Amino acid sequence: MPKNFVSLAEWPADELWGLLDRARRLKELDRTGQRPQTLQGRVLAMFFEKPSLRTHVTFEAGMTQLGGHAILLRPEQVGIGTRESPGDVARNLSRWLDGLVARTFSHDLVEEFASAATIPVINGLTDLLHPCQVMADFQTIAERRPLKDAVIAYVGDGNNVANSLLLGSAVLGLELRLATPPSHRPSARVRQQADDLARASGARLSWFEESERAVDGADFVYTDVWTSMGQEDERERRREIFAPYQVNAALLRSAPDAFVLHCLPAHRGEEITDDVLDGERSIVFDQAENRLHAQKAILERLLAPPS
Ligand code: CP
Ligand code: NVA
Repeated sequence: MPKNFVSLAEWPADELWGLLDRARRLKELDRTGQRPQTLQGRVLAMFFEKPSLRTHVTFEAGMTQLGGHAILLRPEQVGIGTRESPGDVARNLSRWLDGLVARTFSHDLVEEFASAATIPVINGLTDLLHPCQVMADFQTIAERRPLKDAVIAYVGDGNNVANSLLLGSAVLGLELRLATPPSHRPSARVRQQADDLARASGARLSWFEESERAVDGADFVYTDVWTSMGQEDERERRREIFAPYQVNAALLRSAPDAFVLHCLPAHRGEEITDDVLDGERSIVFDQAENRLHAQKAILERLLAPPS
């Protein structure tokens, strides 16, 4: 098992299936009021350079529910690069704590934490990847259809969520269709990694410029914001580029039985319309709930004391 949860590409398929099984079990247990105390006395630091509702709350609640504790660290308290180097911060935390979740702009910063820390480092979103999100997405999809048979269509920006969806699908051997403008496809490095993984797993990854073609007959239609955190200056330009990629009632006519996914927060009226987000095919709050269960499984796997 890898020490860190930074990229899904680093995790073997059997480990990811194991995490999904455990996440499903933890959800079942939670429904009957059972919260196994598998992380009693364990302490997690959560370092957030960007805003967060879901990731912050679900990691903190997850640690508490498993019998552990979480400490929120704000960049202004820590002073990475001004007060102290990333490596020294990671080495200090490693002497006191059992794990670190980091949400950063630069993916390299999380990699730097991971290589200096002796404790597990979990990626809580970077500009490049959002692996914990995608584990919750897979859990949500698997609640509706066998994951291996599901046709998943992602429409919009080839961003951190799309990159992780691509890598996760490639590891697990899933069918994923991506529709993005040619100028905003997932990163070339990630596409290469995904292609290599797909050759081994049999994943069916396909690329489209037109969203209608990607969505045609899909079981799940997934979108994310056109302007991610840190890109606010580009918002007007992005609204123009992505206008043909809105997930709305007209698009969903090509996939009348599809469930709709969104990692949230949504920019209502941009990448998705209110009627679709609030409609009966939307499972976005199941996704949000599953952040909790999926991450508890990840926390247990990485932070639990050896038995
Ligand atoms: N989906 C997600 O990561 O939400 P937050 O930005 O609120 O954590
Ligand atoms: N792509 C979005 C995801 C938010 C959870 C962002 O990076 O802002």
